[in-house]
Parts: sequence; C-alpha cells; structure tokens
Amino acid sequence: MSTDIEWEKWGRQDPYFGVITWDMFRAGKLDAPALAAFFESGQMHVDYVLHSCRRYFDPAFSPRRVLDFGCGVGRLLIPFAAASEQVVGVDVSPSMLAEAQRNCEARAIGNVVLAGSDDELTQVVGEFDLVHSAIVLQHIQVPRGRVIFRRLLQLMAPGGVAALHLTFGKAYHPETFGQPPAAEPSPASAVGPLGRFLRKAATAGAELANPDGDPVMLMNAYNLSEIAFLMQMAGIAQFHSEFTDHGGELGVFLFFRRPAAAT
Ligand SMILES: C[S@@+](CC[C@H](N)C(=O)[O-])C[C@H]1O[C@@H](n2cnc3c(N)ncnc32)[C@H](O)[C@@H]1O
Repeated sequence: MSTDIEWEKWGRQDPYFGVITWDMFRAGKLDAPALAAFFESGQMHVDYVLHSCRRYFDPAFSPRRVLDFGCGVGRLLIPFAAASEQVVGVDVSPSMLAEAQRNCEARAIGNVVLAGSDDELTQVVGEFDLVHSAIVLQHIQVPRGRVIFRRLLQLMAPGGVAALHLTFGKAYHPETFGQPPAAEPSPASAVGPLGRFLRKAATAGAELANPDGDPVMLMNAYNLSEIAFLMQMAGIAQFHSEFTDHGGELGVFLFFRRPAAAT
C-alpha cells in the first residue's frame, strides 16, 4: 500500500483533520473558531520548538532558513515564516501543498517556498539552520523513514539544529515494551481476509482509519537504536529528547545540533 496515495486522499478529502484528528477539524465542521484553534496550535508548537532550541543550544538561536518536512496545510510554516528569513515546506501530497499555498497567500506571507517530496528530498535545495518535522515520520513506513531521516541529517547546515519527531511504540502493548506482538502463526484457512488484514496491521503498523470512509493513516514504530546509529554516523555528538504521547502512540522529539565546521 502506498501511503503517498492515502495522504493525497487526505489532502483532497479532509486536510485539516488529516493533520490533527480532532473532530472539530473535520471538513464539514471547520468553522472560524476551529480554524483559529488549528493555527493557534501551530504557533504554540513553533514557540515550543524555538524555546527548546534556545534552551538546549543557544539562547540567541534564530534560524535564518527552516525546513519543515511534511508541512501539510502550513500549520507550522506560518509561525516559522514569522521567525525566519525563509521557510521551505515539503509534502508528498499536492493537495496539502495547494492548501498551504492558499493559507500563506491569505496572510500575505512571501518567504515560504513549497516543494513536493520524495524520499531523497531531491527538490530541496541548500542547507538549513533548523531542520524540523513533527507528526510526519510516524506515518511513513520505517524503511522509507530511515532513508528520509538520513537525508534530513544531511540537510543540516554546519552548526545547524534539528528538531525531529518520531514514534517508537504504543502504550497499550506493555507486555511487549510498546511493540506490537508478533503475529501468531495459524493456518491460512483459519484466518480469512479480515484476519489477514488485522494481522498485517498489527505487525506492520496499526492503522488509524475509521469506518467513515477515511483514507488509511498508518502509525509506525521506529527502532530508536537505528535512529541513534544514523545520528552518530552523521557526526552528531549528543542529543536531547522529550517524550510525546499522542493517545497512546509513544514518541520522542529529538533535538540535536550538527557540529560547526572546523576553522
Ligand atoms: C499529520 S500531518 C502533519 C502536518 C504538519 N507537520 C503539522 O504538524 O501541521 C502529516 C503530513 O505528512 C505528509 N506526509 C506523509 N508522508 C510523507 C512523505 N513520505 N513525505 C513528505 N510528506 C509526507 C502528509 O501529506 C501530511 O501533510
């Protein structure tokens, strides 16, 4: 299954709910107060990210160029644009990007560049003082996510900072330390199509689709040892981590800095 196709369906059908799955953000319910709350949540997130970067790395941290991977409708691009010279937003869904464009134009924001996404981020040019992604990697299957994570590391400028969020487990699997239990082997005849679907979802990433005709939304658990390996191999000497828990989906927000080039 291609998550890219599913995300384009979200972008077309229900983009704001696709970003934050609260009922008030459903396409049919998104009134002015809900929209204001949606963008206010983005401002609060960006305040938190910049505050964390200043706390961990540099009290005067003020990024000139920001990359927001998986920018959606621009919830975070807008406050990042106010705090930097240029923001590049990338997303795999053209409809999400079109909505982000509309949201920037409606606010006369002129320092946001939008681009389509592939796993090597070939449309992203240059280096960034802040490489950011929130609630995105969790929706990308791990083999692809590893490639993207490595590429995001390469896009950090010397001395630049990354703030990257990913999930690693589920609170409702305490017996297996957050990991979905391995599927029980059983005869194919005893499983049936629904059983095979559920087993696949349990082992490959749980799906948060609901019966309302929504597209699929995968939740994937990354192996933090692999992520630490990628960071260390990229020359990162230390990282700071803050736990996240979104309805039992356990994650980490990782903050780290690429060493400045030797002079
Ligand atoms: C839950 S939304 C979060 C949007 C934004 N980060 C925010 O917090 O407002 C996830 C976004 O990731 C995008 N996305 C999913 N898979 C992607 C991929 N492989 N490359 C780039 N973007 C992707 C989706 O299209 C969607 O806009």
